Amino acid sequence: MDIQQPLSLLGGLTAEQFMRRHWQKKPLLVRQAIAGFVPPVLRSELFALAGQEGVESRLVQSIKGAWKLRHGPFNRRALPALQQPDWTLLVQGVDLHNDAVHALMQQFRFVPDARLDDLMISYASNGGGVGPHFDSYDVFLLQAHGKRRWRIGRQKDLTLREDIPLKVLAQFEAEEEFVLEPGDMLYLPPRYAHDGIAEGECMTYSIGFRSAGRAELAQELLVRLAEDAGEEGSPVLYRDADQNAVSQPGAIPSALLDFAREAMSRALAQPLVLERALGEYLTEPKPSVWFEPGKVGVMLEGICLDRRSRMMYDEKHIFINGESYRAAGRDATLMRRLANERQLSARELLRASDDALELLSSWCDAGWAHVWAGTE
Ligand code: SIN
Ligand code: CO
Repeated sequence: MDIQQPLSLLGGLTAEQFMRRHWQKKPLLVRQAIAGFVPPVLRSELFALAGQEGVESRLVQSIKGAWKLRHGPFNRRALPALQQPDWTLLVQGVDLHNDAVHALMQQFRFVPDARLDDLMISYASNGGGVGPHFDSYDVFLLQAHGKRRWRIGRQKDLTLREDIPLKVLAQFEAEEEFVLEPGDMLYLPPRYAHDGIAEGECMTYSIGFRSAGRAELAQELLVRLAEDAGEEGSPVLYRDADQNAVSQPGAIPSALLDFAREAMSRALAQPLVLERALGEYLTEPKPSVWFEPGKVGVMLEGICLDRRSRMMYDEKHIFINGESYRAAGRDATLMRRLANERQLSARELLRASDDALELLSSWCDAGWAHVWAGTE
């Protein structure tokens, strides 16, 4: 993607300008971000997805000021009638199930893949919404069908109501108000409060981001580090030939603390262990994701990544779906290209080493990539 090219998606800003001026800083309203937008998912298809096991969906209803939340899957009869006002169905991770939605999300790859999370679609009947709230992550709200009135504002008080099962602000004061029509888009930074109410039937696409919390990241990485720190052969045990007799047996020997500290620093000192753990963690597929084993194919026509595959790289590694590979030289260049473009042409494959081709073909076997029928 050319990050210096003005994009109608960003109201004529370049990706570079958007990131500098708005990302994590202030909202941006873009009229006709996608002019003539034709939503790739019909209402009936969204309802069908919400009925599937392994697809995360929620139903929010406000009935006379009382909020109700239910989790899917929902069969069609479990959803309220279309004429009934004030309900919303939210389906998470639609990009994992639909190629066109996955393709739409690619337009937002001026943000690193490590930050891009998923595309959620909401369907609302007239008056439907999830209440005034804030999200912890950045979001692009793309109006797909019908109209939605958004009221947004920074808040002094982010206290949530305690009497309902939803994260709804106890006090909400809007600073701005817009009605979004199909193709319009609103970017909101984290913790920017918003309230979107459907004016007639409406569908909204939320392009969401993820951002690891410090504690969560430490926990995830430490688990992986521990796996890597496993010793072959007999374990190195704490030894205390110099231990004196104690009259206070409850006290932890300070030598044991030193031993523990050394164990930790040894685990962290292993070359590239943190890099590996981070890449594996970031590319780990979501728990609901499974791949159908693919056909072993000749890759002469090129390959593309499956829409569910997560692929990233750092200076020394290639990561895909929670696995890491050391890569250098021409093969590393090729694999990085695959991670960035999500496809490789026949011509590019001709330059791959036998090892790289073998690896790519094993990914095709696993369903992580597919033989691609494109021409270039
Ligand atoms: C919705 O689409 O109804 C909710 C999206 C959001 O407020 O983040
Ligand atoms: Co929100």
